Formats: sequence, C-alpha cells, structure tokens
Amino acid sequence: MKIQTDFLVIGSGIAGLSYALKVAEFGTVAIVTKKETAESNTNYAQGGIATVFGSGDKFEFHIDDTMKAGGFLCHRNVVEMVVKEGPDRIKELIAIGVQFTQNGKELDLGREGGHSHHRIIHAADLTGKEIERALLARITSHPNIKIYENHITIDLITEHHLIGSDKRSHDSIHCWGAYALDINGNHVKTFLASTTMLATGGAGHVYLHTTNPMIATGDGVAMAYRAGAKIANMEFIQFHPTTLYNSGSPSFLISEAVRGFGAILLDKKGEQFMKKYDERGELAPRDIVARSIDTELKRSGDECVYLDLSHLDPVKTKEHFPNIYQRCLKHGIDITKDRIPVVPGAHYSCGGVVTDTHGATTISGLYAVGEVAMTGLHGANRLASNSLLEAVVYSHNAANAVKHRKSNAVPSNIPDWDESGTINSEEWVLVSHNRKEIQQLMWDYVGIVRSNHRLVRAQRRIALIQDEVRDFYTRTKVSEGLIELRNVSCVADLIIRSALERKESRGLHFTTDYPDIDDNNWLKDTIIN
Ligand code: FAD
Ligand code: SIN
Repeated sequence: MKIQTDFLVIGSGIAGLSYALKVAEFGTVAIVTKKETAESNTNYAQGGIATVFGSGDKFEFHIDDTMKAGGFLCHRNVVEMVVKEGPDRIKELIAIGVQFTQNGKELDLGREGGHSHHRIIHAADLTGKEIERALLARITSHPNIKIYENHITIDLITEHHLIGSDKRSHDSIHCWGAYALDINGNHVKTFLASTTMLATGGAGHVYLHTTNPMIATGDGVAMAYRAGAKIANMEFIQFHPTTLYNSGSPSFLISEAVRGFGAILLDKKGEQFMKKYDERGELAPRDIVARSIDTELKRSGDECVYLDLSHLDPVKTKEHFPNIYQRCLKHGIDITKDRIPVVPGAHYSCGGVVTDTHGATTISGLYAVGEVAMTGLHGANRLASNSLLEAVVYSHNAANAVKHRKSNAVPSNIPDWDESGTINSEEWVLVSHNRKEIQQLMWDYVGIVRSNHRLVRAQRRIALIQDEVRDFYTRTKVSEGLIELRNVSCVADLIIRSALERKESRGLHFTTDYPDIDDNNWLKDTIIN
C-alpha cells in the first residue's frame, strides 16, 4: 500500500510536531509515530527550556555556559544561532497556547546545572507534557496534517530500493520516504515524499537504566546510518545524575531544577560530597555530577546517594514540583521531609545524524531535527534544558529550508515492501533475550566510566548479537520488537565504535586509558560514515 504526501514526518515529539505545524502551510503532511501521538521523550520533560529572558542575563552568558558544558566541542556558530533565535521561538510556543509558569507578570525562570543565570522557562515540573498538549491541539485540527499512530518505520527509501537500479551508479543518495509497519494492521506501508523529516528522538533504551520512555530505541540514527548518512559523536551519552532509585523501567527523573531550587546531594552518612569534585557543587554540569556520584558509589559500595530538600520551604517545594512530589509519595517518600534515594540513568544522546544549520543531513531530501540529530550544539555534553530549545529552533529553520521542495519528483519505480521468503517465527525469546543482553552489557561496559578493555569486550559481544539479529531479520516477518532490536544493536555498535575512536576524556566520554583532555588531537567530532 502506497501513501503519497508532500512532507513525511517520522516522530511526534516537540521536533516532529513543531516542524509539521510549520510545513503544513506549504503542503500535505503525514506524521508517522510508533505509539500513541503524545508518547515521546518530550512528554516527560520536566525542567524546561533554557532561553535568555531575564534582565541580568545575556546571550553571551548562555553561549559561554553551553560551550563550557560541551567541553568546547560545540560548534560556536551553531551555539550562537540557537541561543539568539531562542526567545522568538519561545514566543511562538506561547502564541500557540503553551502555558508556562508565571512569576507575577513575568515568566518564572528556574536554574539548572551549568547555567550561570536563572533562565529555565517551565510549566511547573511538567514542561514537556504542556508543550505536547498545545502542539497536538493545533496539529489534530489542521486540515493538511494526517497522523498515523502505531506505525513504526523500518527503513528509509533510497536508491538502494529502486527497481532496476544499480546503486553504484549514484554518486549521492536521495531519500523518498520510508517503509513503516502498521502495528495493529500487521502489514507494511510505503510512505512516499520528496522531503522526509527524521524526528525520532533518542536512544536511552540501549542502556539498562534510563529515564527515557520505551519509544527511545535509536531508530532514526540506525535508519539513517543504514541509508548511508553521516553520523557523529555517538560516544557522548548523557547520564542524568538523579533518577529515583528502584523506580522501575523507565526510571523516574528527579529534575535538575530540584538542585537549582536548592536541594543538596548527600551520601548515606548524610555528608555533602559535591564540593570535593567541583567548586560549583550541586550545580556543576551533569557529566561532572553523574561521574562524582558514580565515584562515590564505587568507593562506598552503597547502592544510591540522596537528594535532600528538607531545609527548603515545603509549600514552595510542592508548588514548584507537584509531579515529583506526588510520584515520590507513591514510593513512600515525602520530599519535603525525607531524603530522596537517587542514582544516575542514561538520559540523552548528544550525538546523532549530522545536519547543517537547517537540519539537512548528508542524504538529499532527508532532514533530522531534535535528539536524533547532531547539529553541533551540544558538543561533548548537553547543557541542561538546551534540548527542547534546539528542537524548536531547528524545526523552524528546517521548515524554512524545505518549503519549496514539495515539487521535487519521487521516482515511479519504488516497490512495495517485499516479505517473500520470510516466515512468522515463534522464537520471540531471541528478541527479548538479545535486547536485555545488549542493555546489560552497555550498562556494565559502556557506561559513565569506560576503558579499552571493557569497550573491546562489549564490541565483540555486540558483533555476535548483530550477526544473530541479521540472520533472524532476513528469515522473519518484521515486527515491532525485531525492528527495535535491529536498531538498538546498531546504535550500541555505533556508540562503542565512537568511544573506542576517541582517545581522550572529554565531557561525557571518560576513559581510564586516556583520562586527560587532548585539545591537540581531539578537538573534533567523531565521524562515522
Ligand atoms: P521525542 O520527543 O522523543 O519524540 C520522538 C518521536 O519519534 C516519538 O513520537 C516516537 O514515538 C517516535 N519514533 C521513534 N522511532 C520511531 C519509528 N521508528 N517510527 C515511528 N515513530 C518513531 N530536555 C530539555 O531541554 N529540558 C528538559 O526539561 C528535559 N527533561 C527531560 C526529562 C526526561 C524524563 C527525558 C527523558 C528527557 C528530558 N529532556 C529535556 C530531553 C528532551 O525531552 C528530549 O531530548 C526531547 O524531547 C526530544 O524531542 P524529539 O522531538 O527529538 O524526540
Ligand atoms: C531535568 O529536568 O533535569 C532534565 C533537563 C534536561 O534534560 O535538560
């Protein structure tokens, strides 16, 4: 079954929805999303969006904070562009109905690690949910937009798929859409478009413990990699320092805004430890805080450290963090009195599909925006609350870039999905076992602190698993679990390869074999073609 549209958007988080709303002014839009529309990392964002609005704040300060947090690997031109365009994009969100928390007549500005000023605009501690709500209210009533829920894309359509094509004769690659499995209907549809937007978010579920919802399996990076796009900086996986200990999967996040509000980190004996590691203490950037907690836990043998808000005004605590307060209460923890047990968890992928400042990838007709992309903004470590900001700035830029692309022709010889020779397999235990094995080994060997020995060991295991997955994939009808496993194993491999490649420690990548920063040789992105 073929579905033709002007603009194909894969993903319905902040990146996909903001872009869809803009390009719907120029043509028809199909949004393909693998669960129900709101299910995305965006929907769980707590802290907010970093933007310069406060009177004492300046663009230069936000630029500086971003560069420092990113280990100076951030592309300065990108940082300047994103920071300076930020306020206009936030005003657009407000114009479409996002209700940010006010402090009197002004926007309330929170603070998070690595920020020298209060500049986090938020909707209490449910910022992402409020943004999704407002965007979806516009999207669902738009006559040019059609949403395909419970459709998971399998692969991008490029020259490789053309009937009668010799792919070696093409010196550049074009993307004309994607194949997607209709999960409920159990058949594969062909989505054709002259412009495809990858807005598939992150890859937290490559790891055992993550703050990300189940959708975050790195599908966009894996699809783009298989199609031949340039990928970069996959070694920079951000571990959030504070997820609620033993809160299940995904782990519940205790926002960094809680530390910005005055919470302190304590060890089991009740001693504050962050100042030992960084003079900024609890408000050091998250790579430093996560690594410090990891060191404390390894040294003490304890299972968690603690966040303490008991010295803060309880009324204000509940007012600022109603969601965190309620969720912790369910675990028997009253955050106004009790210490919150916390551990780090995989949170954000700083690397991804390489794009220019308009979200264009190295494949013609393929754009990438949001967490799936590597724009150059985050460098070696994303500054807190710069992700939602990047998504709105880049979806705006991409929409401007593609508005004339709708007339680009899609070839007529694109075949439908071919499942001949495949069978319905009963061996689903292979899928779940392999996925768990990848998550465990990535957690144990490719986590906060790495070494060559562990990385090589992880690479050997992943190669074996990838062989098994390839074999299973060629013999078996596609399913959601198999599609995700194929992508998780691909992304795990890309992370390990990039981590082995970078022979220094910078930002989120720390290896005991090269513990120092090496500006002479490594002030550059890690590119995988
Ligand atoms: P997502 O919002 O993750 O959306 C991805 C979409 O793609 C989903 O709809 C998904 O279903 C779909 N999808 C994926 N693969 C496929 C496929 N194969 N086929 C079809 N659809 C697919 N950042 C901040 O700046 N501030 C914060 O306060 C903040 N808090 C956070 C709190 C939590 C708990 C988490 C997990 C992240 C937080 N982040 C925060 C990070 C930020 O939320 C994300 O980076 C951002 O929302 C990513 O937006 P996105 O649109 O790129 O991806
Ligand atoms: C948080 O609220 O701590 C998450 C912020 C972010 O990931 O930017």
